Amino acid sequence: MNTRGKRNFKNRTVVSPDTSPTSKLRVELTRMKLIAIAFHSGYGHTAKVAGIVAEGAASVEGTRVVSLAVDKVEEPIEEFANGWDLLQAADAIIFGTPTYMGGPSAPFKVFADASSKVWFGQGWKDKYAAGFTNSLTLSGDKSSTLTYLFTLASQHSMVWISQGVPHEGLTPESVNRFGAWSGLMTQSDNLPPEQTPSEGDIETAKRFGARIATFVVNH
Ligand SMILES: Cc1cc2nc3c(=O)[nH]c(=O)nc-3n(C[C@H](O)[C@H](O)[C@H](O)COP(=O)(O)O)c2cc1C
Repeated sequence: MNTRGKRNFKNRTVVSPDTSPTSKLRVELTRMKLIAIAFHSGYGHTAKVAGIVAEGAASVEGTRVVSLAVDKVEEPIEEFANGWDLLQAADAIIFGTPTYMGGPSAPFKVFADASSKVWFGQGWKDKYAAGFTNSLTLSGDKSSTLTYLFTLASQHSMVWISQGVPHEGLTPESVNRFGAWSGLMTQSDNLPPEQTPSEGDIETAKRFGARIATFVVNH
């Protein structure tokens, strides 16, 4: 576990004596990008997807990924005073929520409404944002939820990163079987999170996390 303070993530310049025969100083610029995954999950399925997105993002060199359950945003998390402190330090925030009644879950909306305190000062302006949602049915109006997450990011003047993982088929084993482009969509059956979503959705979530992290590291 990385326990370095958050200030160290930004433009950390390390100057160390060069041990090469030329005896010159070696200047090494290290820049870690902090990616926060801010999600809600009532029954564990979206939490599972959030974990896979985190895994994908963490596979990209130069990233540090921290997951935040938004209903615990006021609590300390890792080295941060609370979830708001983490989100302020992040280079990118990936928002995730189940689709409940055709939109984000109520606890996610409580978090979104509480973020109005940040909105007043436009504290997340120009951070990168992306989003994902999980629901029971194949459509389930997941698009409405992703549109909401895009709108939330836009209210904060964030820069939205699209899904970016190609559609490879229509079966549960297929990557991006829903042909979702604005954000990540996954579907879970009424089974324990250990058994669902499908392999294809899991692979899509992993590639989505990696796609967002790659973009953030390169920009
Ligand atoms: C209150 C409520 C509303 C729901 N509304 C929808 C819906 O609009 N569309 C859909 O496909 N599934 C809907 N579902 C099913 C959930 O999206 C699905 O069970 C999902 O996996 C829950 O994610 P979670 O385990 O992270 O809470 C709803 C479930 C609940 C509890």
